[in-house]
Amino acid sequence: MISVKGLTFRYAGSNRDVLSKISLEIADGDFVGIIGHSGAGKSTLTFAINGVVPHHYSGDFYGSVTVNGLDTVDAGTENLSRIVGSVFQDIDAQMVAGVVEDELLFGLENFGVPHDEIETRVSEALSAAGIADLRHRPLNSLSGGQKQKTAIAAITALRPKVIVLDEPTGELDPCSSRRIFEYLKELNEQYGMTVIIVEQKIMLLCEFARRLLVLNHGVLLLEGTVKDVLQHAGALEESGVNIPRVTTLGKRLREQALYQGNLPLNLEEGLAMTRQALARAHAYAAP
Ligand SMILES: Nc1ncnc2c1ncn2[C@@H]1O[C@H](COP(=O)(O)OP(=O)(O)OP(=O)(O)O)[C@@H](O)[C@H]1O
Ligand SMILES: [Mg+2]
Repeated sequence: MISVKGLTFRYAGSNRDVLSKISLEIADGDFVGIIGHSGAGKSTLTFAINGVVPHHYSGDFYGSVTVNGLDTVDAGTENLSRIVGSVFQDIDAQMVAGVVEDELLFGLENFGVPHDEIETRVSEALSAAGIADLRHRPLNSLSGGQKQKTAIAAITALRPKVIVLDEPTGELDPCSSRRIFEYLKELNEQYGMTVIIVEQKIMLLCEFARRLLVLNHGVLLLEGTVKDVLQHAGALEESGVNIPRVTTLGKRLREQALYQGNLPLNLEEGLAMTRQALARAHAYAAP
């Protein structure tokens, strides 16, 4: 379990708190999305979970973060990285090797994965990320999206207990993005891997995540199941969060008294809502 209690953080040299009194829990095996406007503190929250804050970025740190019972401040990044795998928003800063295959081997060998298991892990992760053909390519010859896929393959191959991904599909096309989410879902279901993902592609996130955390200027504005959080469409829009268009449509129809049910999260629910709204409009129009 991940437990964040009263976390307040201010980067060294800054004059304001970037995270303020955040308390939350993430159960083992959960699939959690983090959303919020640009600068809301999403990356910083992921840093507090993987120990980058305060070990790499120092500052004023109040409260506590524990992962699997380990306090992230006491544990240190070395120990934490065995439990929490991270795909950073700044993908170039993450790469350690010169060739795609070596990027995966580096972690697997470092973590002492048995040699007879390594080849299976490498080929499985490469093909799941859709980059089996890039195995021997130099990293500096890859596109941004291909680098993202490499970083995802390298981390997922390690099968950490928790995986934290910060906008991992930022440079990927819709098809590759979906493929990554499907792979994460498989790891989540097959190995009980806890997935924590910052993601702008809201429709995709809502389809795969179970719970959402919404940050607004460093404060936890909302948390709950995807369905519950999206019912607060007004507050989400006000805080600059992108919500599914079908949910926005539901909100507008509700405002015009054409619909009264829950706000839809996907096309099927949107269709059901449209049927209801049309029936209502017909009823009004009937003489
Ligand atoms: N190293 C740093 N030193 C000082 N301030 C920082 C540092 N890194 C981030 N910040 C500030 O902390 C705030 C939160 O940044 P963070 O990167 O966590 O936001 P974010 O929600 O991930 O944004 P984005 O969607 O743009 O990635 C921002 O105001 C940012 O300018
Ligand atoms: Mg960020």
